[in-house]
Amino acid sequence: MIPTDFIDELLAKTDIVDIIDERVPLKKGGANYMACCPFHKEKSPSFFVSPTKQFYHCFGCGAHGSAIGFIMEYQGLGFTEAVQFLADRAGMTVPKTRGRDDNPQERAERKKKQQTLEETMQACADFYQGRLKTSPEAQQYLDKRGLNAEIIAHYGLGYAPDGWQPLSQVFRPYPSTPLVESGQVIHNEEQNRHYDRFRHRIMFPIRDTKGQVIGFGGRVLDDSKPKYLNSPDTPLFDKGKNLYGLYEGRAAIKEAGRILVVEGYMDVVALAQFGIGYGVASLGTSTTAEHVKILMRQTDSVYFCFDGDAAGRKAAWRALENALPQLKDDKSLHFLFLPAEHDPDSYIREYGKAQFEDALIHQSKPLSEYFWENLSDGLNLDTQEGKAELVKTASPLLAQITAPALGFLLKQKLSELVGIDPDNLAQLLGQEAPKRHVKQKNYKLPKETARQPQMLTLVQRQIRSLLINPAWASYIDLPEYLALDGDFACLANLAEIIKSHQPAPSSAQILEHMRGSPYEAVLNKIFASTLQHSDELENGSEEDGENFKIGMKKLLNKLKNSQIESLKQKSANGGLNDYEKKLLVSLLMSKAH
Ligand code: UTP
Ligand code: MN
Repeated sequence: MIPTDFIDELLAKTDIVDIIDERVPLKKGGANYMACCPFHKEKSPSFFVSPTKQFYHCFGCGAHGSAIGFIMEYQGLGFTEAVQFLADRAGMTVPKTRGRDDNPQERAERKKKQQTLEETMQACADFYQGRLKTSPEAQQYLDKRGLNAEIIAHYGLGYAPDGWQPLSQVFRPYPSTPLVESGQVIHNEEQNRHYDRFRHRIMFPIRDTKGQVIGFGGRVLDDSKPKYLNSPDTPLFDKGKNLYGLYEGRAAIKEAGRILVVEGYMDVVALAQFGIGYGVASLGTSTTAEHVKILMRQTDSVYFCFDGDAAGRKAAWRALENALPQLKDDKSLHFLFLPAEHDPDSYIREYGKAQFEDALIHQSKPLSEYFWENLSDGLNLDTQEGKAELVKTASPLLAQITAPALGFLLKQKLSELVGIDPDNLAQLLGQEAPKRHVKQKNYKLPKETARQPQMLTLVQRQIRSLLINPAWASYIDLPEYLALDGDFACLANLAEIIKSHQPAPSSAQILEHMRGSPYEAVLNKIFASTLQHSDELENGSEEDGENFKIGMKKLLNKLKNSQIESLKQKSANGGLNDYEKKLLVSLLMSKAH
């Protein structure tokens, strides 16, 4: 647990505009900054960063959060890692607190729970493997994809049968806590129904480095959607820290002296079928810094080979960005780009092992080459502007490289490319990330955002206004005697947090206070789907403040009325205890004036 005071201070010392601008160049637009959203595909910018609120918000896809949230999303880091990252940058030391681990009893309980989850996953894997043997349809599918029995066994592939609850064939009772906690069974709360996550799918067990099954990927047998389902993150399974095929490929990785990172489960398995057993895949996420660390622990040469399409190229650049801080002088990274119509699976099927490896060795680009090629793409380096742009985009990336020799060589290369001598360049780079260069350009938001405005209740609107205008917390005065739940409780809680915070917290600080609280989900929902305009990110006017006050009055009345009603009803049905009687009296009195 990191103390909230520290998080507050970290956010106060961090400017979200810098953090994002270093990764996604921002343009000024009114009081805010904007860009095309890095989290979904779009042609005109609907991603806004508010310097006063210190948060970002995408009007297209609803992504939003503080600087911490952004780093988590963008770099695929966990909360603690993202905090560490920003703290390093701000020159702060994350305080070490006694973890929850220190209590022996809790530790024993957690270990027991982990064991139960592990046994559950193993039993599921065994079941799926058994069912593959009795399903001609599933076998035919794997046959069609050219996989033989040896490879199927090596990767432990299986089949999840059709029906709503196939796992009930082997698990008694069904459902059970471990089945739900391991993500194998989904609980539909509205209908209070339980059903298997994976039904009628080819199953790829995901193992950790010890060989323990920690999750699954499941593929449909036809063209239906979604093509793949993955286990959710669970106490056993963290997508950002595991790679598919690492356990199965460990011997081949040693033997080849290299590891090959691809996009899909099928790519890994197909490569193995054709004699390249050292492939691994990240699990439906981008390659994280943690992945890169793991990869470099296995061997000295890491090759990335993503699909030949635009998404694949984007994934490759993302992998490079996340790799920069992890680079070591004795490790090398390479990038192989396949022809646009191919993925590794189809490529090796068409050309075979020898040609694939030949391409890997002779046609892949070392990181340094890919780095400059991608950064100077579209720039005219014969012009001053092109050179300046290159310095601007390269410097924040170079600043992240700690490997001494590689860092030196890349800086030298930049100095050659732009014709600034290394000393002067060092001076340029020594400065903090280059200043935002702000082109005043008026972007318009797309008229119709992809999202439908969601109908908000009054409480939800008040919550939203309060988050954006924390000062309005002083307009909130909810009498102690009112029993609050649901969104009301969320609103009261927000107000409490803001009032107890000196000086008034930024919206980002409030968001971080609510992380992990029971209200986090409500807030996210309200935020993700309801903002329509960038002006809504700015402080409300005096008139808006008055409306907020009126809203609070209405809410209070509504609350009181409903509590009066329910107390009256209770009184008619069987009577009230002393406390309830008093409550009813104070409610009626307060209504009187
Ligand atoms: P691809 O769509 O490239 O699939 O997704 P693929 O590996 O070529 O699969 P085949 O050849 O059609 O069977 C690559 C990876 O992205 C994730 C999976 O991890 C998949 O292996 N993915 C894809 C999902 O998580 N969900 C999806 O619906 C699709
Ligand atoms: Mn494929």
